[in-house]
Parts: sequence; structure tokens; C-alpha cells
Amino acid sequence: MGLIKWEEKYSVGVDSMDNQHKKLVQMINDIFDELRGGGTHESLLKIIEGLVEYTQVHFKAEEAVFEKFGYAETEEHKKEHEKFIAQVADFQKGFEEGKIPMTMDIITFLKDWLFSHILGTDQKYSSFFKDNVIV
Ligand SMILES: [Fe+2]
Ligand SMILES: [Fe+2]
Repeated sequence: MGLIKWEEKYSVGVDSMDNQHKKLVQMINDIFDELRGGGTHESLLKIIEGLVEYTQVHFKAEEAVFEKFGYAETEEHKKEHEKFIAQVADFQKGFEEGKIPMTMDIITFLKDWLFSHILGTDQKYSSFFKDNVIV
């Protein structure tokens, strides 16, 4: 069922990136469903690990295009990615050690970050990607 929905306004106009963003939305929904459905610490940890891993795959995919075609805002964009990865990794560690619980606040943070990054920072590369990426 899920908490959040992909909407056309989130499109960056490049299918491969939209599909990766949709998968991230799905993974946040999976955390929500697992939490609401009374998931165990272990099952939640597994989904969080998956999210961290896939987020890195996605960021690397964007950054590879930036570097290959010389995107002007590469550094600022990469900094946002790095900060988010560090924040999520901190949470993951705390959760794994039983120091930080999984709550709706965490899911809201993930959701808000993703949508504001897609609508703001990622949207800025839309025309650059459309000019340089085939799909
Ligand atoms: Fe992105
Ligand atoms: Fe990005």
C-alpha cells in the first residue's frame, strides 16, 4: 500500500533516472509498510540496508553522468548526496545497535529529503541529462 506516491511532477524527464527515483519511493514505502505491519528489528534493518545500498547505486549513476559530460553543478550536487548518505548511515548504525528506534519521524525525514532533492537539486540537471543521456 505505502505512504507516498510517485507523481509526474517528480519526473526529471529521463526514464532511467525516473525509474531509479520510483524505486527509492518504493523502498521508503516498504519501510513504512514493514513498520506499520509490526516488522521485526531484523526485517527493518534489512530494508534499511537495501535502501542505503540502492541510494548509493543511484547517486553513483547520476554522478557518473555529471562527470562524463561535465555538469557544471557537480560539486554542490555531490555534497548533498554525501550528506544524505552520512545521515542515513548514522541512523542505520544507531538502529543496528539498538540505540535509535525506527519511527515515523525517520520515514518522514527520508521522504522529505528525497522529494525535496528530486524537485530541487535533481530537477536542475533535467535539460543537461536530456541533452546527454539516451534513456
Ligand atoms: Fe536522484
Ligand atoms: Fe541527486
